[in-house]
Amino acid sequence: MTSPRDSLLVKAARRQPVTHTPVWFMRQAGRSLPEYRRVREGVGMLESCRRPDLVTEITLQPVRRHGVDAAIFFSDIVVPLAAVGVDLDIVAGVGPVVARPVRARADLDRLPELVPEHVPYITEAVHLLVAELGATPLIGFAGAPFTLASYLVEGGPSKNHEHTKALMYGDPQLWHDLCGRLAQISGAFLDVQAAAGASAVQLFDSWVGVLPRTDYERFVAPHSAAALAAVAHRDVPTIHFGVGTGELLAAMGAAGADVVGVDYRVSLTDALDRLGGSYAVQGNLDPALLFAPWPALEAKVRGIVEEGRAAPGHIFNLGHGVLPDTDPEVLTRVVELVHEVSRR
Ligand code: CP3
Repeated sequence: MTSPRDSLLVKAARRQPVTHTPVWFMRQAGRSLPEYRRVREGVGMLESCRRPDLVTEITLQPVRRHGVDAAIFFSDIVVPLAAVGVDLDIVAGVGPVVARPVRARADLDRLPELVPEHVPYITEAVHLLVAELGATPLIGFAGAPFTLASYLVEGGPSKNHEHTKALMYGDPQLWHDLCGRLAQISGAFLDVQAAAGASAVQLFDSWVGVLPRTDYERFVAPHSAAALAAVAHRDVPTIHFGVGTGELLAAMGAAGADVVGVDYRVSLTDALDRLGGSYAVQGNLDPALLFAPWPALEAKVRGIVEEGRAAPGHIFNLGHGVLPDTDPEVLTRVVELVHEVSRR
């Protein structure tokens, strides 16, 4: 049997030649799938993340159904925060809600370092999954320090990130101390998954696109780099993703990733220009286009695969997660199309 180390995803991430373009979707596990809605009935989000049997089943569902080239570990970016004792919940239709937001130095005391003993259910779930997945790679993930800080400081999802920015610009020392702690938690969470057998890891900095590049480099990049460095001793490629990060692509690559995620606002061609040829890229279909008539969607997918040919490595994905109302049959069709048109 071939190993996930020889998979299309790992090869593309390492900028090695592939027979065709690997494809997976952020949020491929989730509400778009009726089989997901069925197994989640009556089980809270955080609870389901702590049950290895459920995590395994939910992670495998889109692999079975769509034939994607990778599984993304079913969890959430706030799971490690809850594991170290932060009082939070994931509210359906809202997102993570934190009981007592982090705003002052004393609040750091509620954020201890993460050790593997905090998350035995993660190690167990990864073991189960790696055994089931065979040659299909499992992608582990964590939230990046900025995006985690945003939830902690705001107390929940935020449009303007005003408390986060007020803290970052108003008390840079506290900001750096908070993000240093979060980088440890994020890095340790990635390392637990890599140690248990994940074949690649993705750092999600979903909301960092709200910062200009100079501030990203000063306030964020060192902490994201520290999180990524936590798995540098493992033989796993790293993917660094954000939304609306066209201006930050090169800086996100420089933070230490093998693959830079590109959302749909910047073409792969422009992204490759900005990245200077040293990174593989992942992306970049607008998830809203999955609702468009097939001919329009097909043309977009073909265009992205074509642009991706110029990259040192391309992993096809969406520019952000699958929307809950997406028709899952359209996703399966996109997988088939990417495989067919990218064959060389
Ligand atoms: O397939 C996958 O991508 C796997 C799992 C995954 C989830 N969350 C499951 C989830 C991943 C990679 C995440 C990461 C995550 N969580 C991010 C980064 C990715 C991104 O979307 O930018 C962020 C910002 C979060 C925080 C979060 N958790 C949000 C914004 C929400 C959505 C709230 C809602 O209900 O619309 C969640 C909850 C969540 N995480 C769900 C899932 C499947 C939905 C909960 C449910 O199904 O009941």
